[in-house]
Amino acid sequence: MSNQKKRIVIITGAGIGIGAATAKAFGALGDHVVVTDILEAEGRAVVEAISAAGGSAEFHRYDVRSTAATDALVADVEARHGRIDVVVANAGIAHRTKLADLTDEKWDLTFDIDLKGIFRLVRAAAPGMRARRSGAVVALSSIMGVAYGWDEHVHYSAAKSGVVGLVRGLAVEMARDGVRVNGIAPGYIRTAQLLSEENSLGPAAAEKAAEFIPMGRLGTGEDIADVAAFLASDSARYMTGQVLVVDGGLLVGRY
Ligand SMILES: NC(=O)c1ccc[n+]([C@@H]2O[C@H](COP(=O)([O-])OP(=O)(O)OC[C@H]3O[C@@H](n4cnc5c(N)ncnc54)[C@H](O)[C@@H]3O)[C@@H](O)[C@H]2O)c1
Repeated sequence: MSNQKKRIVIITGAGIGIGAATAKAFGALGDHVVVTDILEAEGRAVVEAISAAGGSAEFHRYDVRSTAATDALVADVEARHGRIDVVVANAGIAHRTKLADLTDEKWDLTFDIDLKGIFRLVRAAAPGMRARRSGAVVALSSIMGVAYGWDEHVHYSAAKSGVVGLVRGLAVEMARDGVRVNGIAPGYIRTAQLLSEENSLGPAAAEKAAEFIPMGRLGTGEDIADVAAFLASDSARYMTGQVLVVDGGLLVGRY
């Protein structure tokens, strides 16, 4: 595939977990993947893996909390590649904090990354996408944002619910300009986030949870990556403003 034909895809939080799997999936599709993360070694390893598999990728150390860094990233990618075709806004944190300990700072940190981080990058990439009348955004919500309540994660649930509203508003505002905006609400996916004893289920409870998932297993990063690839593709050309639940049947299961 010639360089002109490659889509230019920016993925945040792409050093590990769902983001890394998504970067590799887009790399395998023949896209040029801009792998970004605050985890430098992990991000560079993802670029190496994509390159080793015959794909095309580059790494940027990028913190979604910075507006200046966001604008600089978008300007740099557009200057060198001419455009941005796809944004996968995946970076996120889920810190366990009891309501009694949920300070303004802790609330703001989660919102700054999980919700405002998406807004910042879309705001920066939107003018170019609209000018070319072409673009797709995929944002990561969670089942904790669309259906479940999560104790000691009120800030996370609220931010992930906010992603649903963000997706809807952006979708309508940019629909006539040829830019589509959709989201994914993953269930229990086997990543560092889920396996954190401190902040989420931890390994033992994750295995226990798997028993309650109708499909009988936890999800993988690849399970989410393939849906992100679909949402970003022309196969989803008439879809915008939607958040797809990808959870192995967890929400519709009855126990
Ligand atoms: N794992 C799950 O079960 C699950 C379920 C629902 C939603 N999600 C969401 O999917 C996304 C990916 O989750 P994951 O499970 O792969 O998590 P993870 O913890 O494995 O990876 C998160 C990534 O985000 C990056 N990140 C964190 N703060 C950042 C910042 N300020 N700037 C840039 N990057 C930053 C991390 O460095 C890491 O690479 C998150 O938004 C998460 O909330 C995950």
